[in-house]
Amino acid sequence: MRHFLTLKDFTKDEILEIIAVGLEIKKDLKVGIYKGQLKNQTLAMIFEKSSTRTRVSFETGMFQLGGHALFLSNRDIHLGRGEPIKDTARVVSSMCDMVMIRTFAQSMIEEFAQFSKVPVINGLTDSFHPVQLLADYMTLVEHNMSENLKVAYVGDGNNMTHSWMILAAKLGFELRIATPKGYEVDAEVLKKALELAKISGAIIITTHDPKEAIKDATVVTTDTWTSMGQEAQKNERIKIFKGFMVDDAMMSLADKDAKFLHCLPAYRGLEVSEEVFEKHSGIVFDEAENRLHAQKGLMVWLDRQR
Ligand code: CP
Ligand code: NVA
Repeated sequence: MRHFLTLKDFTKDEILEIIAVGLEIKKDLKVGIYKGQLKNQTLAMIFEKSSTRTRVSFETGMFQLGGHALFLSNRDIHLGRGEPIKDTARVVSSMCDMVMIRTFAQSMIEEFAQFSKVPVINGLTDSFHPVQLLADYMTLVEHNMSENLKVAYVGDGNNMTHSWMILAAKLGFELRIATPKGYEVDAEVLKKALELAKISGAIIITTHDPKEAIKDATVVTTDTWTSMGQEAQKNERIKIFKGFMVDDAMMSLADKDAKFLHCLPAYRGLEVSEEVFEKHSGIVFDEAENRLHAQKGLMVWLDRQR
């Protein structure tokens, strides 16, 4: 049995296989074929943070695969009132076939997985957002962008950045990360990514200069400057991140055919300008839709590993 807690635990071939399974299921869905791969199975979805895409995609995905999903907000279940993680894990995994968790600390999902009898999927923690990267890479494959990939990430060194680093390190592409001083990526994650990069041939560069990161990039991406849980720092962050907005001037430094990705939700006038966002909204909303397809691929793949 496998869990999906970070991309670190997966090989390049496994990551590509999960995406390929997702693309197959997507092709079927588009012509109305439902194979019921997870018939009679249930997915428990534990949310300790807000979500639009993650909830809609997992719940819809599980239904389309013939199963059922349970939305468990921590406001409603005893976890939020202090029932231990390990007890919640043993109870939920005795009744459900898979668990998806969105929470704060990565250690919470690790502990849950340790006591779970069924696969646990990371639906975002403070440290990583690996299911988003499955959708992002699937989108790049579909848009024929996955060869000679040079990704520039401009913004906060956060869960999205960390997952981009692990993906680049595993798949062997080039990633340049520009963050303001004091908002760099986690040193441990960087160390791990650089170690993995030696094997895959990935190039991972960190800088404080967005222009350096973006030069000739084939894909430019960013994320909110204020992640969930950091709301109190919002005004301070807006001041510090000035100069990191992905706008037309910034995009003009990238490759002339460069694409823009955003995991959403997007804050126009902060991490991205309205013009850049709307110009690239086609691919951005393909990326959002691919959450559904990539995660269906993931759930079917995890089910096959038992
Ligand atoms: N990108 C993403 O995970 O969106 P939600 O927070 O809406 O789930
Ligand atoms: N970095 C953002 C991603 C939202 C999908 C957050 O954690 O809030």
